[in-house]
Amino acid sequence: MGRIAFLNRLMVQKTTVRNLFQFGKTKGDTGKYEQIVSTGLVSPERSVPKDIEKPAYHFKKMSPGNTLGSPEIKTSNQIDAMRMSGKLAARILRECGKLATVGTTTDEIDAFAHGRIIESKAYPSPLRYAGFPKSICTSINNIACHGIPDDRQLANGDIINIDVTVFLNGYHGDCSETFLVGEVDERGSFLVEATRTCLDHCISLCGPGVEFNEIGKFIQRYCDERGLESIAAFIGHGIGSYFHGPPEILHYYNELPGKMQPGMTFTIEPILSLGGSDIGVLEDGWTAISLDGARSAQFEHTILITETGTEILTRDQ
Ligand code: MF3
Ligand code: CO
Ligand code: CO
Repeated sequence: MGRIAFLNRLMVQKTTVRNLFQFGKTKGDTGKYEQIVSTGLVSPERSVPKDIEKPAYHFKKMSPGNTLGSPEIKTSNQIDAMRMSGKLAARILRECGKLATVGTTTDEIDAFAHGRIIESKAYPSPLRYAGFPKSICTSINNIACHGIPDDRQLANGDIINIDVTVFLNGYHGDCSETFLVGEVDERGSFLVEATRTCLDHCISLCGPGVEFNEIGKFIQRYCDERGLESIAAFIGHGIGSYFHGPPEILHYYNELPGKMQPGMTFTIEPILSLGGSDIGVLEDGWTAISLDGARSAQFEHTILITETGTEILTRDQ
């Protein structure tokens, strides 16, 4: 999620596309790619049939969920529902990834995802969440996250994160992946593979009794060893009948207290950058863009802490 309070402070600057590129230069070799410098046309809101169960924010604009406080321990019935929403999100994410080809617009991917989600009798969680206008997030190249699907056609060499969250049987499942469009340069492919592997390692170190801060400690070391930066403004989050709740999962070194316990469900969703880690938010209030124009990649899973380790709820199988 966005650490929205932090983002709001950035939004106060009313960062515009024009002044963004007066900020610092990228460090080192950031590769060859098209920088996104403006947003495109956003299509009208897609409708959700009457018979589909909707989260409260569909009816009434609400602020994003509070991620502070103690994490909920889910019952086995709640976990069963989380398994269903997680699997559905993962399946639709995989299908969306197949559409990430040259010439496809992100609005077409949104339309596809929306259609698949409602035909599965689920609700596309981003829609109307804190006012978000579309059903998925699509973040290309130098967009860190929360990109709004629009009429831009994917170009050869793009990297695109697609973030799918669904609300099914009263529970959310949240996952994302970064896909390569056509032929991506060597730095871009390196970034995407390094970020995928980073998330895999984060998940494998989780389990009952493990401190949440082990995740951030690991990511920090991982990035330092590879000349990458983790974008601190965005955190993983507890998830359940709420989209974003406790605990906060920080993707950078910290020593905050808190241990994982069986029955907790949360996301891990590091965003790693080839350049600096500062971001700004465009005037649409959502699109989070790197201030130095560098690319970033993100992967996300919703996981469950079990008695013996973890279960990836957003695994597509
Ligand atoms: N799916 C994002 C996350 O991983 C949240 C998107 S919020 C939205 O937490 F409103 F942009 F959809
Ligand atoms: Co998330
Ligand atoms: Co997500």
